[in-house]
Amino acid sequence: AWARGRTVNARPRVFATRNLPGGALARLAQRVSLEVWPDPGAPAREALAAGARDAEGLLCLLTDRIDAALIKGCPRLRVISSCSVGLDHVDMEAATRRGIPVGYTPGVLAETTADLAFALLLAAARRIVEADGFLRQGRWTWERRWDPDGFLGRDVYGATLGVIGLGAIGRAVAARARGFGMRVLGWSRSLRELEGVEPVELSELLAEAQFVSVHVALTPETRGLLDAAALARMREDAILVNTARGGIVDEAALAAALRGGRLAAAALDVFAREPLDTASPLLDAPNLVLTPHIGSASVATRSRMAELAVENLVAGLEGRAMPRCANPDFADFAAG
Ligand code: DGY
Repeated sequence: AWARGRTVNARPRVFATRNLPGGALARLAQRVSLEVWPDPGAPAREALAAGARDAEGLLCLLTDRIDAALIKGCPRLRVISSCSVGLDHVDMEAATRRGIPVGYTPGVLAETTADLAFALLLAAARRIVEADGFLRQGRWTWERRWDPDGFLGRDVYGATLGVIGLGAIGRAVAARARGFGMRVLGWSRSLRELEGVEPVELSELLAEAQFVSVHVALTPETRGLLDAAALARMREDAILVNTARGGIVDEAALAAALRGGRLAAAALDVFAREPLDTASPLLDAPNLVLTPHIGSASVATRSRMAELAVENLVAGLEGRAMPRCANPDFADFAAG
C-alpha cells in the first residue's frame, strides 16, 4: 500500500516455484507479496532466475537448482525454504556465506516415505508388477490358473533387512521390518545404537542382508556409495530398494548386476537424473520395479510439507528462528 509516496506495510516479495497442495500458499499470500510460478511443472533455469531475482524469500522444491550463481543473482534474497527433506539441490555453502537461512522439511515425510520403501520391497519380493502385467496381458489362461511354480518370489517375513542410514526414514523402515519379523541390520556414519537394530559395518550389511534399503542423504561422501564393488558384495539372492537419492547407487552397475543374475531384484523410486532418461540401461534390466520419485506422495504428507516450508519461510522473513533450519551453524535461525 502506498501513502504520501512512501511504502507502508511493504510486504516482503516471495517467489514460489510451484503451487503446493493444501492451503499453505493461500495463507502465505495473506502475509507476503507472493508470486507463484504459473505454468505446470518446474520452471526452467532462466525462469527460476528471473522469478527469484527481486525476491526476499524463495520457496523452492528439489527440482530447482539453487546454486551459487543463482543466489548471487538475487541480491535481496534473505530466506530460502525448500519443500523437501533432501537439500542436495541447494548450495548450502553459498547460502550460508550470504547469511541466508535455508529451511527444509525433515520428520513430516518419514513415515510416508518408509511406507513406499516397504511397498517397493514387497513388490520386488513378491513380483507384484510382473504378475499384474501377466494378468492384464491375457496370459492367465485356464491351464495356468494356478501354477505350482508361477511367480515364485522371496519371503519378507523372517528375512534379514539391512538399513543404510538410520535417520528418521531409516528408523521408520526398521520399525516396519520388525513388524514383519525381520532381523534388522543397520549402518549409518555415526553407527547409532537403536533398539531392535544390530549396528554393523557397511561391508557386513551388504554381505549378509537379503534386503537392503537405502536412506542416507546424497552428499559428496555418499555419492556412488553403492558402486559396482559394493553391489558385488551383496548376496545373489538380495533385493535392493532405493527411496533416498539416485546418485547413491551406480545405475549402470545395478543394471549389469540384475542382467547378470548377480542380484535377485531391485526397486527404485529415485534416479541420478530425473526424469529417467529413456535410454537408461535400467529400463531393460530384469526384476526391477520403478516409480517416479513418489516417496512422500500422500495427500496428508504433501500438505504437511507445504505447511512446514511456509512456516520456515515466514519465520526467516520475520527474523525469527525457523522451525527447521538446515544451515549447520545458524543457531539463531534454528528452533530445533
Ligand atoms: C525430499 O523431500 O527430499 C523427498 O525426496 C521428496 O519426497
